[in-house]
Amino acid sequence: MKNDENLALDETTKFIQSKISMSPDIAVVLGSGLAPLAELIEEPTVIDYDEIPHFATSTVEGHAGKLICGKLQGKYIVCMNGRFHFYEGYGLDIITYPMKVFKQLGIQTLFLTNAVGGINTQFKAGDFMIISDHLNLMGSNPLIGPNNDLLGTRFPDMTEVYSQKLRNIAEEAGKKLGIKLQKGVFCALTGPCYETPAEINMLRLLGADAVGMSTVPEAIVANYMKMEVLGISCVTNAAAGMEDGQVLSHDDVKKTAELVKNDFTRLVSLIIKNIEVKK
Ligand code: HPA
Repeated sequence: MKNDENLALDETTKFIQSKISMSPDIAVVLGSGLAPLAELIEEPTVIDYDEIPHFATSTVEGHAGKLICGKLQGKYIVCMNGRFHFYEGYGLDIITYPMKVFKQLGIQTLFLTNAVGGINTQFKAGDFMIISDHLNLMGSNPLIGPNNDLLGTRFPDMTEVYSQKLRNIAEEAGKKLGIKLQKGVFCALTGPCYETPAEINMLRLLGADAVGMSTVPEAIVANYMKMEVLGISCVTNAAAGMEDGQVLSHDDVKKTAELVKNDFTRLVSLIIKNIEVKK
């Protein structure tokens, strides 16, 4: 079952391995406007998504569409500068395909980042949030379809999608750097439109602290493959309807991400430094 997928994965994995000389420890996915981290990667090997067999290409402004492999804080990382979104028209299988490649590359730790709207009234634009759990309101699931038994089980447990151990490391890093970290439940909708105020009120009642258009498919697939997942969100704006006269725009999302880029890169770097790599 899923022979085609396994053949494709072998091809993609071999292609990436042919470009790099070390076996990577951690995969990092950068969200909207969070690309500056990529500039810190030492001895980078940069591979355009276009070149990678079976990879899609990134169509969103602020998402570069490059895989950057290199060293950060003594760890060998593979960084997706630009991710794929459901609203671009890609299926969840295509969106989550890179996670399967990361697993094949021997990576056990996935660090997901994203830009989110803050639903929790305590959150401010520019805050960071450790994702403690998620609500999948995308109306679909990346594991639908025949199960690939080589990757995971048909009915995977999702009790701790976001590793408590990694969340503790993130919390410690925030304390050490004096960067305030919120914690909360992330809710994913498909986008591409931002939510209505009524939808935000509904999501708050459902227990969401923040909302975005990504991350959950990748986290589900990584957890299914028994990878350890960490999710850090950048609250780029108060969610729809929470501020008088507010209109949401992708430009404002990018502007806030730009304002906090230094703290974001310091935080992510220290977390990566402190993650123990399983081999
Ligand atoms: N809603 C959905 N996705 C987002 C938002 C938002 O308010 N901000 C950044 N990404």
